[in-house]
Formats: sequence, structure tokens, C-alpha cells
Amino acid sequence: MFSTYLYTISLYKWQILVFLLFIVILFIIGFHEADFIFLILLFLVYNIAMVYISIRGENERTKTLKDIFNKIKNNEYASAQQIILPRYLISIQDEIRSMYDKVQDDIDYMKKLEKVRSEFLGNVSHELRTPIFTIQGYIETLLNGAIDDQKVNKQFLEKASRHTNILNNLLNDLIDISMIEAGQMRLSFCYFNADEYFSSIVNEFIPLAEKKSLKLVLHPIPQDLQLFADLEKLKQVMTNLIHNAIRYTESGSIEITVEEEDKFGKITVKDTGIGIAPEYLDRIFERFFRVNKARSKESGDSGLGLAIVKHILDAHGTKVEVQSKLNEGTAFNFRLKK
Ligand SMILES: Nc1ncnc2c1ncn2[C@@H]1O[C@H](COP(=O)(O)OP(=O)(O)OP(=O)(O)O)[C@@H](O)[C@H]1O
Ligand SMILES: [Mg+2]
Repeated sequence: MFSTYLYTISLYKWQILVFLLFIVILFIIGFHEADFIFLILLFLVYNIAMVYISIRGENERTKTLKDIFNKIKNNEYASAQQIILPRYLISIQDEIRSMYDKVQDDIDYMKKLEKVRSEFLGNVSHELRTPIFTIQGYIETLLNGAIDDQKVNKQFLEKASRHTNILNNLLNDLIDISMIEAGQMRLSFCYFNADEYFSSIVNEFIPLAEKKSLKLVLHPIPQDLQLFADLEKLKQVMTNLIHNAIRYTESGSIEITVEEEDKFGKITVKDTGIGIAPEYLDRIFERFFRVNKARSKESGDSGLGLAIVKHILDAHGTKVEVQSKLNEGTAFNFRLKK
């Protein structure tokens, strides 16, 4: 009540000042005691009237706002534009509308997160199931007698062991991706010599390429080119890209180029492999996406490699781009700061 009174005084301060000025003038021109009492009474009546008016006004404002908040709560508005406030509240209409928009955006975002989370969980359990069931199958067959069959026992153990490796790789990728997505990827950037760094990575893949009779070429890199990145994470990117290039190429070559640009170094990994159909080009960076799901069941590819590549390059403030032609080949490229 007292605060309402103070609020009213602050609203009507000009009237009060005029009223006081009026009394001062009366003092100056001289007036009787009775006039003074009359004026005090008038002043009191005036104040009471003001408090009454403002309480009534405030009740009305509160009621209108309450109605609007309830309608927002009950989802009765289809858009912010439907929120129309009376003239005496028009000054806060824009604020209420933008608050409504913000709440709607937050709700949409939460719903999307929830969907992504449950899809992710579904995918994870599905991906884990395949190697676990396979390992279980081989072990049970061995226990049921195959262990004494010299023709198959070693082969079954090898297959079970291969699937434990697949399981291990999958778990490592999952740990990586969840750390990255939880914002726990710590990067330690440094300048490095591009020629030395990329040569040593590419050399590691020579045996794998030779196994498939593929030519693995690293084009000459300017000797003094220094680039800026987290070396460990960049290695993960290069490993995934070169591994994919070898995996999805049956004949021909894999070429890695590092070109010097004005402010960047542009790294390209190009193959002459199976290529990717245009409709899948946008999707290959999604978690668990594989063009050929049947093939990956056997090979144990999880479809997490490019999602990790994208996240790591995002954290480097750069983008990965892809060009591909079905049955002709694919080229991935990204830029690093000089
Ligand atoms: N160089 C490439 N040539 C053709 N297709 C490719 C190439 N790189 C990626 N792809 C397609 O994109 C999909 C996603 O690649 P990604 O590296 O994310 O997963 P993956 O290789 O299937 O599994 P992993 O998690 O073991 O890397 C692949 O399954 C493949 O269909
Ligand atoms: Mg891959």
C-alpha cells in the first residue's frame, strides 16, 4: 500500500509540485487560517483520489498481463503478432512479443536436442549390438564344440578378435565425439612445418595403399610453409580423410596437396575411388551416416569419421569442403591459417 502510494507520488509529482506552488502563492498574497485547513483537506482528498485511481489502474494492468501470460502458457497464440496489448500497455508490447519469440525458440531447440539425443542413443546401441552379437556368436560356437575343430577354431578366434577391435575403435570414436560435443575438446595450437608434418603422416599410409595397389602421392610442399593447428587433432583429420580415400578407392591413386594461399594453406585429399552421389554429399558429415550400410556391417565402419573431422575443423575455425563424382573420385579440402 505504502509502495503504491510512493509510486503514485512519483507518477503525479508535477501535480503535487503545482499544488505546493499554489499554497506558496497563497502564503505570499496572504490568506486566513480557515483557508489553510481547507487547503490541507483538499490536499488529502486529492491524494486519496490519486491512490484510488492508481490502484484501480494497476489492478487492470495486472489482470491484462496475467491474461496474456496465461494465454502464452497455454499455447493460445500461434505467433508473437497475435499478442496485442491495450493502449495503456502498448509501450511493453514489443518486449512481450520478443520474450514470446525467445521462449518459443528455446522450446524448439530443446525439442530438437531431445530428438537428437534419443536418435544418438538409438544409433549407439544399434552400432554396439553388431560387433557384440558377432563376438558372442563365435564364442558360443567355439564353446559348443568348434574349439576342437582344427579347421575353424583359429579362424573363429581371429574373427572374434577382429570384432573386438571394431568395438574398441567404435568406443574410441564415440568417446571422441561426445567429448567434442560436450565442448571438452581442448586444443593446443602451434605453428608447424607443413612439409615435415604431412610427409610423416602420409608415409604411415604407404603400406595400406600398397596393399590395395594404390598410388599414394604427396605433392611437393613449399619448404618454409608454416601452418597453425593442433597437431594431434589435425592428425586425426588427415588420418580419417586418407583412410577413407584408401578404403573407398579400388584402383588409381590418392593425392595429397598442400597449396600456399595468401593467408592460408589449402590441404586437399583427392582419390579416384567410387565417389559419392550428389544426394549424399550433404549427409556424409552426419554421425553414423554411411552411403553403403551393408558394406560397413562387415568392415566395421561406424560412420563417425567425417563427423569427427567436421567438428575438429570447426574448432579450428575452418570448414571442410567436398567435391565428388560417382565412379570418378572424391576430393576433400580445408584451409589452415598461415
Ligand atoms: N573418399 C570417399 N569416397 C567415397 N565415399 C566416401 C569417402 N569418404 C567418405 N565416404 C562416404 O561417407 C561415409 C561417411 O564417412 P565416415 O568417414 O564418416 O564413416 P565411415 O568411413 O563409414 O566409418 P568410420 O567411422 O570408420 O570412418 C562413408 O561411409 C562413405 O559412404
Ligand atoms: Mg571414415
